[in-house]
Amino acid sequence: MELKVHQEKIIKQLIMQEEMLSKLYGYFSVQFPEYSKFWDRLSKEEYRHARLIQKLLVAAKRGKIIFDEGKITTYSLNAFISRLEQILQKAENVEYNIKTALICAVDYENSLIEKNVFTHFDSLSDNVKGTLKILHSETMDHIESIKKVQKSVAENS
Ligand SMILES: [Fe+2]
Repeated sequence: MELKVHQEKIIKQLIMQEEMLSKLYGYFSVQFPEYSKFWDRLSKEEYRHARLIQKLLVAAKRGKIIFDEGKITTYSLNAFISRLEQILQKAENVEYNIKTALICAVDYENSLIEKNVFTHFDSLSDNVKGTLKILHSETMDHIESIKKVQKSVAENS
C-alpha cells in the first residue's frame, strides 16, 4: 500500500514534534543546571525518537510499513506543533521556572501517549515492531521520570 501525501505529511510532523521537544529539553538543561543531566537525557532521547520515526517514514515509503493515521489529521498536528512553538518561544525567553517547565513537559508527553501516535504504524517486521516499542516505552518512561523530578522538586521547596 502506497503512502499518501497527507500521510507523509503527518509522519513528517511527528518527526518535527520530536525534534522540537529535543530542542526544548536542551534549553531546559541549560536553564536548570541542577537538573541538567535529567533534561539532557530527555533531549537526546527525543532526538533519537525523531531519527527512529525518520526510519519509519523511509520504510513506509517503501511499503514495508502500514501507516493508518486513524483520527490524526495534519490539522490537529499543526495545532500541537504551534502550541509547542509557543512553548519553545517562552523557553527561549526564559519564562519557565523548574516547576512550570516540568508541568509543561509532562503535559506534552502525556498528550503523545493519549494520541497513541505510535499505534498507527503496523508491520510484520520485528525490527519495526522493536522500534515502535522503544518509542512507546521511552515516552512512558519520560512521563515517569518527569513525575519523579516533580516530586523531588516539591519536597525540596
Ligand atoms: Fe519522544
